[in-house]
Amino acid sequence: MNQEVASDQDVIDRNDNSYDRMPYESFPYKQSSMEHLATMGQLFGMNPPALDTARVLELGSAEGGNIIPFAEQYPKAKFVGVDLSEIQIASGKKHIENLKLDNIELHHMSITDIDKEFGEFDYIICHGVLSWVPDFVADKILEVCNENLSENGIAYISYNTLPGWNMIRTIRDMMLYHVKNIKTPEDKLVQARAMINFVKDSLKDSNTPHSVVLAQEADLLARHSDHYLVHEHLEDNNKQYYFNEFMEIASNNKLQYLADSSLSTMYVGNMSEAVAQKLDGVNDLVRSEQYMDFINNRRFRSSLLCHSSVQLSRHLTNDLIKKFAMTFNLVPEKPISEINIESDGVLKFFIGSDDQERFVETSSPEFKAILYVFYDNVGFPQSFDSIVKKANEIFKDDRKEKIESDLVENGINLAVKGLMNISLVERNRRKDIDKPKLSKLARYQAKDTESLWATNLNHEAIAIEVFEKYCMGYMDGENTKEQIVENLVERAINKELHFSKADVALEKEEEICIEVTRQLDLFIEKLDKNVLLV
Ligand SMILES: C[S@@+](CC[C@H](N)C(=O)[O-])C[C@H]1O[C@@H](n2cnc3c(N)ncnc32)[C@H](O)[C@@H]1O
Repeated sequence: MNQEVASDQDVIDRNDNSYDRMPYESFPYKQSSMEHLATMGQLFGMNPPALDTARVLELGSAEGGNIIPFAEQYPKAKFVGVDLSEIQIASGKKHIENLKLDNIELHHMSITDIDKEFGEFDYIICHGVLSWVPDFVADKILEVCNENLSENGIAYISYNTLPGWNMIRTIRDMMLYHVKNIKTPEDKLVQARAMINFVKDSLKDSNTPHSVVLAQEADLLARHSDHYLVHEHLEDNNKQYYFNEFMEIASNNKLQYLADSSLSTMYVGNMSEAVAQKLDGVNDLVRSEQYMDFINNRRFRSSLLCHSSVQLSRHLTNDLIKKFAMTFNLVPEKPISEINIESDGVLKFFIGSDDQERFVETSSPEFKAILYVFYDNVGFPQSFDSIVKKANEIFKDDRKEKIESDLVENGINLAVKGLMNISLVERNRRKDIDKPKLSKLARYQAKDTESLWATNLNHEAIAIEVFEKYCMGYMDGENTKEQIVENLVERAINKELHFSKADVALEKEEEICIEVTRQLDLFIEKLDKNVLLV
């Protein structure tokens, strides 16, 4: 039998090609941001490296969508991205050049070629890579996270987990079997989708537990984008880890568990009462999270690691909340103008935009005031002092002390429950939006790329429409709203843009002007709400 054994380089090249043929859309991932890593480090007793001057390395950075935004926001920090795909790196370099950023480099190279000389980094990010590379690359990722991480540095690694992946693996196996002899990713994709449809159609009239779950998974997969389906499911490599296995590899590399990127998933108190009672006595964090994964059937994790030598503190005292800025996405049952904050009794605040099922309620006037401050600042993390000050302004007399104690009493608990977000970075809403201004990156994404999304200051991708892309090009802080309207109307008259009302195309300049003004006002509201204005 003449079976050739693939060399490490062959394996690397195969992976390289697939991302060159079908590049991966490169998004910002808030949970992997250095701001979030530093926040988690601070929470658990670390002294995380300063963000302003941080050195950040991303392994498998694709075209840099996850680090370019921070390179713009933190001009004194330094960013390095490494990826095997030549095309993705070339396209990232073009963006960097166009944005004139001089604190970020992207390298077309393999993670396996990184050595100690490559440098030391305060934050090392590796999102969506570990599960999709061969073992020797995966081993190297953990090695780099140890050898190239500064003393108080934090590494982020995400990966597919068991037991949650068991069911998806069944469908992946079916697709792989079906596309086995097909060569190109494009053709594989067509046949993989055919296989998914076959599963869905074959099971639609069956109600056995197995078929219901399988059909649900197939349905979910069918809705994924092409690049996701190819790279997540059809690559040669897709390895899933039990959390404890992952942590064993990490600890062999002298790394310890700092936190999950999603704080609330670490706490047994967030499980059902029966589970919480049983797991309460497990005083090893990795074990207790492993048991929770079994029960929750978890399929993906993003773990934060630091050097084993770092002294962590797991005891979260209420006072800790004073160190953080906070955001809480909630909506009061009544606007503040319609209530008497002192005498109206219990008031509900719904969590999220219109979910009436989940809410917090309080009769404390001071805590109500705190929650109204959160509501006024959804998306804009407010420091402890700023919340206290703003809540105090709601009253005629001085309630500072009671407001502080209400916030201290509830803050950490709300964060641990996953209701409130904490951050080391405070942000304030732009007050004057007569001359709307976006980051250079958001303007560039709108004007010079095909993306139908833009990165906001919170490191999130915000969906944008075609008309909005046109508007964004003018939002450099120099143009007034009226000037933006004038420009857009001119483009409509030149037939570059089209406006209609009740399905009837608008032709008259005056009508177009009214419609453009209306749409622009709505869009500026959206930009403000989505933390895109700088
Ligand atoms: C699923 S994509 C994730 C990209 C990006 N981190 C994200 O989440 O958007 C995996 C990336 O890892 C890169 N990659 C795979 N093997 C690599 C290696 N040995 N060295 C460097 N990059 C590698 C691929 O080229 C691809 O861009």
